[in-house]
Amino acid sequence: MRTHYCGLIDESLIGQTVSLCGWVNTLRLQSHVAFVDLRDHEGLAQVVIERDNAAAFAVAGEIGNEYCLRVSGTVRARLAVNDKLKTGKVELVAETVEVLNAARDLPFALHESPNEDMRMTYRYLDLRRPEMQQMMRKRIRLVQALRRYLDDRGFQDIETPILTKATPEGARDYLVPSRVHAGQFYALPQSPQLFKQILMMAGFDRYYQIARCFRDEDLRADRQPEFTQLDLEFAFVEERDVQDFVETLIRHVFREVQGVELDPVFPRMTWAEAMRRFGSDKPDLRIAMELVDIAEAVKQVEFKVFSAPANDVGGRVAALRVPGGAALSRKEIDGLTEYVARYGAKGLAWLKVEDLAKGREGISSPVAKFLDDTALEDILHSTAAHSGDILFFGAGAWKVVSDFMGALRLKIGKDRGLLEAGWKPLWVTDFPMFEYDAEAARYVALHHPFTAPKVDDIDALRANAATAVSRGYDMVLNGNEIGGGSIRIHRPEMQSTVFELLGIGVEEAEAKFGFLLKALKFGAPPHGGLAFGIDRIAALMAGTESIRDVIAFPKTTSAQCLMTDAPSAIGPAQLKELHVQVASGIEASS
Ligand code: AMO
Ligand code: AMP
Repeated sequence: MRTHYCGLIDESLIGQTVSLCGWVNTLRLQSHVAFVDLRDHEGLAQVVIERDNAAAFAVAGEIGNEYCLRVSGTVRARLAVNDKLKTGKVELVAETVEVLNAARDLPFALHESPNEDMRMTYRYLDLRRPEMQQMMRKRIRLVQALRRYLDDRGFQDIETPILTKATPEGARDYLVPSRVHAGQFYALPQSPQLFKQILMMAGFDRYYQIARCFRDEDLRADRQPEFTQLDLEFAFVEERDVQDFVETLIRHVFREVQGVELDPVFPRMTWAEAMRRFGSDKPDLRIAMELVDIAEAVKQVEFKVFSAPANDVGGRVAALRVPGGAALSRKEIDGLTEYVARYGAKGLAWLKVEDLAKGREGISSPVAKFLDDTALEDILHSTAAHSGDILFFGAGAWKVVSDFMGALRLKIGKDRGLLEAGWKPLWVTDFPMFEYDAEAARYVALHHPFTAPKVDDIDALRANAATAVSRGYDMVLNGNEIGGGSIRIHRPEMQSTVFELLGIGVEEAEAKFGFLLKALKFGAPPHGGLAFGIDRIAALMAGTESIRDVIAFPKTTSAQCLMTDAPSAIGPAQLKELHVQVASGIEASS
């Protein structure tokens, strides 16, 4: 139908006859001439329809934005060159204009920025927008580069089941009722974790898969209920083998797709250090500010908000110095106090250093009166405070303080433009094996239950479960967890012990993971791996905050597809066939 793409016509075609197909981006109808900017996936071309060409000019009078056209004509040099357009030196003088399809009653104009619900409902129109095309193409190039790199290095692309048994990664499962096995359900995989481990036991040595994962969890800008991993597994490896390989892989794809040279060696940080310095297990190193622990300085002060947690092993008192922050207004401070309350903060003490040389006189703070001179001096010294700074303080339970002070650091960093430009990758290592879930009153695995403990000794693990460190690792980029992995448990006794410590009884372990425990008994090799979040990497590369922009058909924050209207109710016959009954009192909402 066409000889060229709209976005690729250039001066080399002047005088030639070409045919273009695309959509009307804009239409300017004048008395003697009509201008159509015709758009395809490569870009725009200006089409000129002259009044002398009566048939074509008549068509111009009938069309509108997003009409789908085929235009044939001659390329000529443009009188007024448009430097902003790739094709801006030429235009197409139409001989024939054929309407391939009309576009009436558009729900929104493509060049305006429509609201999220509109974009999702009419996703095909949203995706026509050049910025969406560019972001999606970034993802496509990323996936191509990843595949090429791994194929060239002997990795084997193996598909694993979608209809399967629950693979716990810490979220709820999506379940599929079985028609032939009444009352039984498949689970959609939260990741291919167990299958890839079993592939190592099956002798495949190096595996990868661009794998769809399903997790029923609270959604955010960086989380979708179905998302895509680059899933990798290696046999006969230790941490550094996996980490060095995937670090080189990431450097390679950033060079190839983004034209960016990442650090030659990614910095490494233990989880404990990341939490201490940044209050986060995925620190954004583009922000220079760090948390400073001041418990030692405030152990003796009369201010119980500080001294109680300072004297408690499970407590934390941390300060964040914001350079130049003394200029913050009361209203701004109140705003920040409200912000950290969302993370569980009971308050946010602060101290403005108006003039450091004046000592206590030069300080303005609602809590300074509770701090004796030594404590005050210690705090100012350990935070390296300068005149014009503000210090924020978090005090309370270690985890809560780390979380809200970490969130505060990020918020202030972003709000005050303290983000350094560029890319800051790092490895976070030495995660705790377990985390205590107070609500469920039991330990949960911080990575997943198949992650090996650092100390390969069952008795030692039992004795020190609360402080045990795992062989898990995450790759973090600009404050995003882009990948996570670990060295796995490869001996059945250790795997059973970890299940037991997680409160998974022998019978439950057998029912849920019997196949794994069995497979581990037949010479399972040491193995490990990692999975990258492709959507997150693509979003970072595309420069967008939301992974929805790099997923063709994403779901809303309430896990709906507005275009197809999924999920939706099903009829009684189908329910019956699936042996499923909807609880009484529940009406499927439309
Ligand atoms: P993990 O759960 O850390 O590890 O997932 C790996 C990476 O996948 C991305 N990711 C997500 N992206 C979008 N939406 C989500 N809901 C979502 N959840 C996770 C993140 C994350 O780093 N089986 C293990 C990997 C392994 O141990 O090899 C796993 O799935 O970027
Ligand atoms: P209060 O004694 O509760 O009135 O608090 C006095 C000051 O300490 C106020 O500025 C509070 O915002 C602050 N504050 C209270 N609880 C905490 C906390 N857990 N961490 C940091 N600051 C707090």
